[in-house]
Amino acid sequence: SESGCLSIVVLGASGDLAKKKTFPALFHLFQQGFLQAGEVHIFGYARSNLSDDGLRERIRGYLKGASDEHLSQFLQLIKYVSGSYDSGEGFELLNNTISEYETSKNNESGSYRRLFYLALPPSVYPSVCKMIRSYCMNPSSHTGWTRVIVEKPFGKDLDSSEKLSAELGKLFEEDQLYRIDHYLGKELVQNLLVLRFANRLFLPLWNRDNIANVQIVFKEDFGTEGRGGYFDQYGIIRDIIQNHLLQVFCLVAMEKPVSLKPEHIRDEKVKVLQSVEPIKHEEVVIGQYDGYKDDPTVPDESNTPTYASVVLRVHNERWEGVPFILKAGKALNSRKAEIRVQFKDAPGDIFRCKKQGRNEFVIRLQPSEAMYMKLTVKNPGLEMATEQSELDLSYGMRYQDVKIPEAYERLILDTIRGDQQHFVRRDELRAAWEIFTPLLHDIDAGKLKSVSYEPGTRGPQEADEMSRRMGYVQTHGYIWVPPTLA
Ligand code: BG6
Repeated sequence: SESGCLSIVVLGASGDLAKKKTFPALFHLFQQGFLQAGEVHIFGYARSNLSDDGLRERIRGYLKGASDEHLSQFLQLIKYVSGSYDSGEGFELLNNTISEYETSKNNESGSYRRLFYLALPPSVYPSVCKMIRSYCMNPSSHTGWTRVIVEKPFGKDLDSSEKLSAELGKLFEEDQLYRIDHYLGKELVQNLLVLRFANRLFLPLWNRDNIANVQIVFKEDFGTEGRGGYFDQYGIIRDIIQNHLLQVFCLVAMEKPVSLKPEHIRDEKVKVLQSVEPIKHEEVVIGQYDGYKDDPTVPDESNTPTYASVVLRVHNERWEGVPFILKAGKALNSRKAEIRVQFKDAPGDIFRCKKQGRNEFVIRLQPSEAMYMKLTVKNPGLEMATEQSELDLSYGMRYQDVKIPEAYERLILDTIRGDQQHFVRRDELRAAWEIFTPLLHDIDAGKLKSVSYEPGTRGPQEADEMSRRMGYVQTHGYIWVPPTLA
């Protein structure tokens, strides 16, 4: 049921994720009228000893673009409960606080909905979930639901992830668990399904006959500042590639789902993941930026990659022979995420005087959301010369009045609505770990060494060399610049 009392509980309410992502997302939903003051209440839970106002003050600074009045209305919806993550007492108190609010509402017709958002380190997931299960479930005498949002890391490898899944699986049904991968909440990631399956243009082209290679790229122009200790236990493959980029990969490579039903879509994602061949060491480059180990919380002998480029190969009829290069790095020369689908050369080229650039279809996920297609055109003028240009759909130009929603805002709304399409299913998570676990174990055992790279660069040269070896042809002398409004 999608109406009635809604209680949103943010566990880890005083932490970074809650302040930077969860509360701002809730606030945006409130601003747009998706969370109604008479219907919703928000509970922050954490260990710190804080008052309601104490929590409100902590998050106020992160809520931008609002009138003071609006902001106060929102903040008034928030209550704070303090307690530990493994004691019954705290969760009993939390339950009482929620119940008190629920019964204070005149809610005869509606139902009771409880949404728990775990903005917590994964080490406490099992105990927190046990506590929720024992103390805080929507009472069975009420109609409604209890749903739990969890965030990566879901373990460190196949075994630890399966163990976590089994623990959570004993406590909650799969349809109560929402495993967030916030990349699935990004506008252009959500657009992939439409783009691929609603456009006749792409249908016959999207395969090994036409596509030479695909790159899925994530770059950040800052390092692991302040979270080196955490990061060092995971590395870039667990932090970005095994989840965010692999989800994007699924949507680019999967077959057409039977329908738009979440289970049909997720079935196809699992299938394509299961078709990925074991990763070969010679198709991996890992790197670590100079200065990474200056962080006192990072061990001196760390081999943890802050950069990785990994080739995935899909063993099926559509993709045999097409390398998918998944690349991610910290402390690089720019900040962006994009998909590059590079087409093969035009056969029987008659413009021999100059080697033609390749058609490349680029989907810029962020920043400056866009899709552009690199084309060869006649150089305008009297000469019969060619040059590269593009068909450009830049969202900033085309959708000037649209504010693109934040990923978290969309995904929380999906959870309230009970739509699991953009969340990771248990078997999907398992398939994702199956792909990367052997490689991760080899890296952890030092069988692959991180090469060093200068911060502020493209990353290790070895990675560019590997891309060339995979058949990627870089366009020279031509750079797409996001158009801006005059
Ligand atoms: C997080 C990673 O999942 O994603 C961070 O842990 C990374 O290391 C972040 O910075 C990137 O997200 P976005 O939305 O800024 O691309």
